Amino acid sequence: MAAAALVPDPSDKAAFDAAIVDPDSYAHEERYHAIFKTLRDEAPVYWCEPAGYRPFWTVARHADIIRVELDTDTFLNDPRLTLSSIADEERVKAMTGGSDKLTRNLVSMDNPDHRHFRSMTQGYFSAKHMRRLEDQIRTLARQSVDHMAALGGECDFAADVAIWFPLRVIMMTLGAPPEDEKFLMKITQEVFGAQDPDTMRPENVGGLFATIAEFNAWCDRITDDRKTNPRDDVSTIIANATLTDGSPMRNLEAMSYYLIIAAAGHDTTSSSSSAGMLELIRNPDEMAKLRADPSLLPNAVDEFIRWSSPVKHFFRTAARDTEVAGVKIKAGDGLVMAYPSANRDEAVFADPFAFRVDRAEARKHLAFGYGPHLCLGQHLAKMEIRILFEELFARFEGFELTGEPAWTRSSFVSGMKRMPIRYRARS
Ligand code: HEM
Repeated sequence: MAAAALVPDPSDKAAFDAAIVDPDSYAHEERYHAIFKTLRDEAPVYWCEPAGYRPFWTVARHADIIRVELDTDTFLNDPRLTLSSIADEERVKAMTGGSDKLTRNLVSMDNPDHRHFRSMTQGYFSAKHMRRLEDQIRTLARQSVDHMAALGGECDFAADVAIWFPLRVIMMTLGAPPEDEKFLMKITQEVFGAQDPDTMRPENVGGLFATIAEFNAWCDRITDDRKTNPRDDVSTIIANATLTDGSPMRNLEAMSYYLIIAAAGHDTTSSSSSAGMLELIRNPDEMAKLRADPSLLPNAVDEFIRWSSPVKHFFRTAARDTEVAGVKIKAGDGLVMAYPSANRDEAVFADPFAFRVDRAEARKHLAFGYGPHLCLGQHLAKMEIRILFEELFARFEGFELTGEPAWTRSSFVSGMKRMPIRYRARS
């Protein structure tokens, strides 16, 4: 298969392991999928020892990731969350005076804190409550489509549309004023784009630290305001919540909660929207199918998300000696759950490298994770992507690519940063 040309041979372990952690592998979909197809076929639970990183297991198959996600007593979110070089880990420790992270949020928590913090906003992000926001989200989608019309038939769909719309949706949930848009864009781009030259600050981890300090000041203002002027937004819930022991929410946890919502809800959704548009353009038969039968759109949205899998991994750490798929794991070992790999697993998805808007098993994707940490914003994400495409299809036709698309370079959350397209108003 093409894997040999795209990635080092696994017998050259140093080079193969370096490719697994190389952010460039995540900016080239074929390369990423060649690496992980090799792992699914030959070493589904694989000990990866890249130079400059603490070693870890990669878990490449759908069923094995579910097993890890469900056993939250054995596989902990704390302390190791995402791939980071030893040098970056040391820098974080030096800057925080010994702590291994800059924030403390849902994805870094285990029970009992995780259950408590998740229950604060679970109702707000439920499917039922999200339906109440549908009209507001449609208004924002129409503004994006109006902007596309004003651009005169050509735009960079990733940079001009897909990246702004989910940010505005998230700002609506947080109750952030429109004038904060540019600031929040910068923050969320820097948090996830820390490995990409287009978005990173000069000093990788140092830059992230500065980003979070700026965001901290913004959060203090919103928390103070919502304590005295409660509103119907998620910031009000967070600002007035209590910690597990009943004491008032602390600054670190409130800031971390706003940040996870803003960051997790932004680049992820925009990546799946861009990927959906790209694959529809590349697969005209799928585009035609969808336009002929708009009732396929909710399923198509799951296929966009399966296909793009914007979150490339999360870690778990084994709390005790255990096994995954017959492979012995020692207490303290880290495991990377490779979501995009699970979403091309032949055991679950028929012809997994084919993009099909009517794929029967599209909803089985693990792009939102699984189990107790399953993405809190999944209903919001799916609804906003569906609404955006409803509005795009109502206004335009004849979508085509006018240049090469480009992906961000990040082993954590990555997606498209450039996608020049042409389109015309529907006659
Ligand atoms: C296509 C869009 C999205 C994708 C692919 C995505 C993916 C993910 C993944 C993989 C996880 C980790 C799940 C696990 O550990 O099992 C997660 C968690 C989370 N996501 Fe999303 N997400 C998306 C959109 C959103 C949106 C719109 C929000 C806004 C609220 C959001 C908020 C969160 C939060 C707060 C968590 C932490 C949940 C927890 O640990 O309990 N996400 N997401």
